[in-house]
Amino acid sequence: MEIVNRHVLVTGASRGIGKAFAKMCAEDKAHLHLVLRKSDGDIIKEMENAGAKSVTVWEADLSTRGGVEDLVQRLKDTPVDILFNNAGMLTGGLIEDQPMDDIYKMLQVNVNALIHLTHGVLPGMLQRKRGKIINNSSVSAFMHFPCASTYAASKAAVAAFTDCIRMELKDTGVTTLLLVTPGIKTRMFDEIETLYSKNFQIPNEAISPAKYAQMIRDAILHDLVDMEPSGLTGVGLKIAKFAKPLFEIEVARRFKRS
Ligand SMILES: NC(=O)c1ccc[n+]([C@@H]2O[C@H](COP(=O)([O-])OP(=O)(O)OC[C@H]3O[C@@H](n4cnc5c(N)ncnc54)[C@H](OP(=O)(O)O)[C@@H]3O)[C@@H](O)[C@H]2O)c1
Repeated sequence: MEIVNRHVLVTGASRGIGKAFAKMCAEDKAHLHLVLRKSDGDIIKEMENAGAKSVTVWEADLSTRGGVEDLVQRLKDTPVDILFNNAGMLTGGLIEDQPMDDIYKMLQVNVNALIHLTHGVLPGMLQRKRGKIINNSSVSAFMHFPCASTYAASKAAVAAFTDCIRMELKDTGVTTLLLVTPGIKTRMFDEIETLYSKNFQIPNEAISPAKYAQMIRDAILHDLVDMEPSGLTGVGLKIAKFAKPLFEIEVARRFKRS
C-alpha cells in the first residue's frame, strides 16, 4: 500500500516508535491522525513541517475501556486507511513483585485497546475495500524470558490476534502487518533495564526509532504480512521458535532469583 495521501492513525504518537513512524508518514505526505493522551502543539508543528498533508490530534487515554470507546465513537466518520496500533506499556520483574494494578492497565492498553480500535475501524475499511492494520507486537511474544511474563503474554496475544484476522481478511482489500519488534532505543527500552536487571541480564541490542520506522515503511510498501528482526536478535528469535531447549539454556545462564 502507498502512504502518500492516505489517512494514517497512530496510537502512542507522542514519542518513541509511534512518533518516528508518524514523522516518516508525514515525509511521505500522508494525512496524519495522532492519538495522544494530551494534545501537543510542538508535535503538530513538527509533523506539518515534515510534510504532512494534514494533522489531526485525537486525545484519548487508552488505559480504560471508556477512553477507547469514546475514541472509536469520535472516529466514526474518519476514513482511516492505515491503523497503527502502537501505544504500549511495559510491566516486568518477578511475577509476585509486579503490582496487579499495573498488570491490568498494561493489558488494557496493549491488548484490549488494540482489539477495540481494530473492531471500531475495520467496518469502514471493509466498506471502502481498502485498509491496513499494523499491530506492534514484540520478540517477547516468542522469546520467553523470566521477568517478562505479563508483558510477553500481552504481546503473544497481539501476535495471535493479528494472525487470526489476517486469515479472516483474505481477499477483502484489508491487510495486516504484524511487527515482531526487537529492541528499539526508546523510553520503554530504558525501562526494561530498570524492571528486569535485578534478576535477568537482558540482551542490549537496539536500533533507533527512525531506522525502525523506515523498515516499517518498506514493509507497508511491499505489503508484507509480518516483519521480524535480523541480526543477533533474529537468530535468537529463530532459536526460541525452533530449538526451545537450546534457547532456555542461554536464558537460564542469565537469570537469578535473588
Ligand atoms: N522499544 C522497544 O524495545 C520495543 C520492543 C518491542 C515492542 N515494543 C512496542 O512498541 C510500542 C511502542 O513502544 P516505544 O518503545 O515507542 O515506547 P515509549 O517510547 O514508551 O512510547 C509508548 C507510547 O505509548 C503511549 N501510551 C502509553 N500508555 C498510554 C495510554 N494509557 N493511552 C494512550 N497512549 C498511551 C505513550 O504515550 P504517553 O507519552 O502519553 O505516555 C507513548 O506514546 C509498544 O507497544 C511496545 O510494547 C517496543
